[in-house]
Amino acid sequence: MKNFSAIILAAGAGTRMKSSLPKVMHALSGKPLIKWVIDAVSSLKPDNIVVVLGHEADKVEEYLAKINVKNLKIVYQKEQLGSAHAVMQVRKVLKSYGGNILVLSGDVPLIEKNTLAFLIKDNQKVNSSVAVLAAEVSDPFGYGRIVKKDGFLEKIVEEKDANILEKRINLINSGIYCFDKNLWKALSKVKPNNVKKEYYITDTIAILKGMGKTASLTVTKNENEVKGINNRLELSQAETLLEYKKIKELFENGVSIIDANNVYISYDAKIGQDSVIYPGVFIGESVIIGKNCVLKGSSYITNSNIGSDSVISYSYINGAIIGKNVKVGPFSHIRPGSVLKDNVKVGNFSETKKAIISKNSKVNHLSYIGDAEIGEDVNIGAGTITCNYDGLNKHKTIIGSRSFVGSNVNFVAPVKVGENVVIAAGSTVTRDVPSGKLAIARARQELKRRIIK
Ligand code: UD1
Ligand code: MG
Repeated sequence: MKNFSAIILAAGAGTRMKSSLPKVMHALSGKPLIKWVIDAVSSLKPDNIVVVLGHEADKVEEYLAKINVKNLKIVYQKEQLGSAHAVMQVRKVLKSYGGNILVLSGDVPLIEKNTLAFLIKDNQKVNSSVAVLAAEVSDPFGYGRIVKKDGFLEKIVEEKDANILEKRINLINSGIYCFDKNLWKALSKVKPNNVKKEYYITDTIAILKGMGKTASLTVTKNENEVKGINNRLELSQAETLLEYKKIKELFENGVSIIDANNVYISYDAKIGQDSVIYPGVFIGESVIIGKNCVLKGSSYITNSNIGSDSVISYSYINGAIIGKNVKVGPFSHIRPGSVLKDNVKVGNFSETKKAIISKNSKVNHLSYIGDAEIGEDVNIGAGTITCNYDGLNKHKTIIGSRSFVGSNVNFVAPVKVGENVVIAAGSTVTRDVPSGKLAIARARQELKRRIIK
């Protein structure tokens, strides 16, 4: 494949989304639409990726700055006068560029990199001035229709401009094209002669043909990958397509999903063999789960690793690293920075945050463990709280291995407890406890004579 540069159109208002968020920033399986397109095209290593922004540009720009994409440039389309007008704004950046120019829509997220590679190669093979990626779809409503003459691509007609016969055509324009350098000349000839009075990129096909150039078609058999997203229904349909694909992949890899219609699993989740997912589980972005795990109830897991043989029940887990054979829940909140090592148990209405809980330790009931380091084989009794916040700063609690913490203990941080310590139930620990000691820090029980009147 010869060199190419990519243009991603993302300046449109996306009015059909009825949203204050720019259309291309709407999330599909947790990832903004535009990132899907960027990922597909980046994997082919283009010389440049030029994104055209306009409507709510600052919101998209802020996101693009964060994700740091190689060779990415931004140009602005101040007024959204149509897709051809949008591409025209890139001329100043690419006018002396010699390679092919791949034009993509920021709202066609499911496009596969292999299809893009095929489109570029196809174009270079037949040496056409434009290759249009098309697909035969069951419902062509809303798409530009591919009009052929004598079996060859003649022009593209938009839904609103199509006559009755053209509306019956099922071969649609994906909004993805591979041009040669004649693009700029063709664009300068586009006129807004259509119902919407916009400058349409699709008009360049008939224009190039009129200039004596060749226009070719590359047809993908996968109609799902060219689905455009213009409203919330289409966004939800794309979500369903991705979900179906992911669930199929997991089944093929030996994961059991009891009710495939009642789970959400992000496209990038990795789940090991013989793990079982019960109904109601939500697995968001960046989750890795080992083998033989059981995920039960309405557990919500994002951005976390879970080791093999672990059981998660009705729990909310975000930004955590969980080891092997760990039990979480029912009803636990495992917050960012939590590290639960092998064989740990955190359960029954407990919360952890920035807490390292070492091997075999238990936080079984109604506890808050925040900004803490807990050693191995520690038992934390019911209702134990690390008082980590003094109203201004956060402080740390350290508890050594093999210590036993009775029920209803408060650790007023910063505080350090040694190894093999016993903390009596009901204690409020304000001072460090050396290893091997029994600490009692509570009011002594008194027995008094009962006065009966
Ligand atoms: C477009 C195509 C249609 C195709 C469909 C595929 C045109 C005229 N029509 O229709 O043939 O079947 O995509 O999904 O191109 N944009 C700008 N600036 C503008 C206008 C649009 O950057 O002034 C961007 C949008 O942000 C979007 C893309 O161009 O990413 C396509 O625009 P959209 O309004 O979604 O066009 P469709 O009606 O979907
Ligand atoms: Mg669209």
